Amino acid sequence: FLHHPHPEPVAVDVRTAMLKNPGFGRVFTDHMVTIRWTEGRGWHDAQVRPREALTLDPANAVLHYAQEIFEGLKAYRTKDGGISLFRPEQNAFRFQASAERLAMPVLPVSTFLQAIEQLVKVDADWIPGGEGSLYLRPFMFANEAFLGVRPSSEYLFVVIASAVGAYFKGGKKAISVWLSEHYTRSAAGGTGAVKCGGNYAASLIAQAEASRNGCDQVVFLDSKDHRWVEELGGMNIFFVFEDGSLVTPPLSGTILPGITRASLISLARSEGREVREERYGIDQWRADAASGKLREAFACGTAAVISPIGEIKSTGGDFTIGDGSSGPVTEALKAKLVGIQRGEIADENIWVR
Ligand code: COI
Repeated sequence: FLHHPHPEPVAVDVRTAMLKNPGFGRVFTDHMVTIRWTEGRGWHDAQVRPREALTLDPANAVLHYAQEIFEGLKAYRTKDGGISLFRPEQNAFRFQASAERLAMPVLPVSTFLQAIEQLVKVDADWIPGGEGSLYLRPFMFANEAFLGVRPSSEYLFVVIASAVGAYFKGGKKAISVWLSEHYTRSAAGGTGAVKCGGNYAASLIAQAEASRNGCDQVVFLDSKDHRWVEELGGMNIFFVFEDGSLVTPPLSGTILPGITRASLISLARSEGREVREERYGIDQWRADAASGKLREAFACGTAAVISPIGEIKSTGGDFTIGDGSSGPVTEALKAKLVGIQRGEIADENIWVR
């Protein structure tokens, strides 16, 4: 990695003001990492350099055929002034799986990790204290000016960083979700299990419908039976039952294998809870919420952390889970996860680096 420090980084007092209430995805740091890939040459030109606009040829394949993948992970400021990263190698592995699915070159895990670590190091002053964190966004896209439909012969890998607070505007209160009855997120054989921009583009119309109906997120059902709960627009989902057990939809190939999802399955099991990765139908969800068998539900992801789901709205009627606010299992799992991520609770699985 060649280092080019920013000649005019954001002034300290301006940065302090920007970090006060960052929200999600608007406050960016001074630097970025870029690495190029060219057919016949492989990966080259790794740089840590000032964050700036990219220049793209209008014929760049990514603008036409969406050959693009990304990741999301966070760096935390620990109480002793250190910095922690949560399972970054899992993001590196998933990035490799995404690259393969989109017919892109595979970035070595060690290069991915170095890119993250170097960016966090130069922009360490941008990691907010308190409950904030530095959201890292590695991504890669086709970078060849060519309109033929085939894998690009050039790619650009980039990492940018953004100081963030809570993903949802409502802060800590429970979120509401809109049941999408018309649109689905992905189908068997598609790209639902990898993190490519196209999945999110396809979800936007359903997410907009959710917003129009006053909801924070959309919940998608499977594309075949329009019955089984899959995931939300940008996060996985868990259900908590009266006997303390949890259910989350299985990784069927159409669901994003969330790192937060996997971590919560382990944490809940290590506490002696039963966690079933099994299909859960929308009719059952409605019935269990009405009978009280279902006590809690929550969304989880890197950006969302753990967000309790209070209300479900749909054209077929609305229903509430419990009293519509967060529940004890959701809160306990969140405290444990966040505590580990921030180095405040013993990290028995060695997830933090
Ligand atoms: C993440 O949780 O990191 C994501 O990529 C999802 C998106 C809603 C920000």
